[in-house]
Amino acid sequence: MIPNEVIIDLGAIRHNFFEIKRLAGPGTCIAAVIKSDAYGHGMIPVAKALESAGIDYFGVFELQEAVDLRHAGCKVPILIMMGITPDEVSAVVEHQLTAALFQLDIAEKLSQTALEQGVTVPVHVKVDTGMTRLGVAWKDVAHFLRSLLPLRGIRLEGIFSHLAVADKPDEPFTGKQLRRFFQAVEESGRLGVCKNAVHLANSGALLGKRGLELGMIRPGILLYGSPPSEGWQAASLFKPAMTFRSRVIQVRGVPAGTSISYGRTYTTPSRAMIATIPVGYDDGYSRMLSNQGEVLLHGKRVPVVGRVCMNLTMLDVSCLEGVAVGDEVVLLGVQGEEQITAEEIAKKTGTISYDVYCSLGKSNRRTYVD
Ligand SMILES: Cc1ncc(COP(=O)(O)O)c(C=O)c1O
Repeated sequence: MIPNEVIIDLGAIRHNFFEIKRLAGPGTCIAAVIKSDAYGHGMIPVAKALESAGIDYFGVFELQEAVDLRHAGCKVPILIMMGITPDEVSAVVEHQLTAALFQLDIAEKLSQTALEQGVTVPVHVKVDTGMTRLGVAWKDVAHFLRSLLPLRGIRLEGIFSHLAVADKPDEPFTGKQLRRFFQAVEESGRLGVCKNAVHLANSGALLGKRGLELGMIRPGILLYGSPPSEGWQAASLFKPAMTFRSRVIQVRGVPAGTSISYGRTYTTPSRAMIATIPVGYDDGYSRMLSNQGEVLLHGKRVPVVGRVCMNLTMLDVSCLEGVAVGDEVVLLGVQGEEQITAEEIAKKTGTISYDVYCSLGKSNRRTYVD
């Protein structure tokens, strides 16, 4: 079996949840964003860990994720942030899910189905305050909310929006989005939305203390231990939950002038020891790390040399004594005193930590520790 493994520390996720709660202050409800398989960490185990720690709400992207959570026994309210299609209405009613709402025809169908079943389902209206992605335009919110009023079977529980640049502290556009959202919230308050289901703060907004006066926040990346961008002091409070490790499958000495891997982009300047690991871009380890990446072996950083292949990567281990087949290699995480973070990998590959976690987490066998 390929010795690659993603290890998820559920204790770290719980720790991060408690840090989020502490930063948000007492009384703020937390909707944990666990969409996209909990950013590659595994939605069901993460949900169970958070549920046992007292999470208030879950945010997923689409209906199927919410249904999977219910089938796994999750009792916590779940918001489907993408909204739903007409043929998903009955599943929402059956599983008592909360749909994001921004289309009247969906609201009407949901209302009708809920009435037929003799139940009332909660909904959260999604307001677009400037992200220009999804939701009722902020200017049209008052009208939309009023058109929901006659509909029985749905309960206007919440209202939410999403910030475009919350990861940049002091960004003026965030203030603009907040002002637009407050207007919508005022309108919704008159129509009976409960205060603890008003939300727009993601991880960046939490760190920047924007929108925390609202009753609920919706963090994702901080739960997994990464800040949304560089430069946040509070980032050190959070513990990365994901480790990605492999093992050496071959080691050999090569003379100076030996070229390594496809394209011969690296040639050894002197005699070198080269170790091979069975990790490649198929495992979510970006090809952009060719001649750029570093990994941990015997507690030290060693460089990736030559191109990252689909399934194999070579390391120059000349600085280490006695590297052997089977030795553990950490590509993401801690070994000894050293650490490779998702931020480091993201910087080298021109992306964000979110992408690194999703790629590694979804491409590899996951095991859990607590
Ligand atoms: C609608 C919505 N809310 C909240 C989040 C969580 O954001 P973050 O992971 O930056 O905290 C996301 C993430 O993409 C999102 O799409």
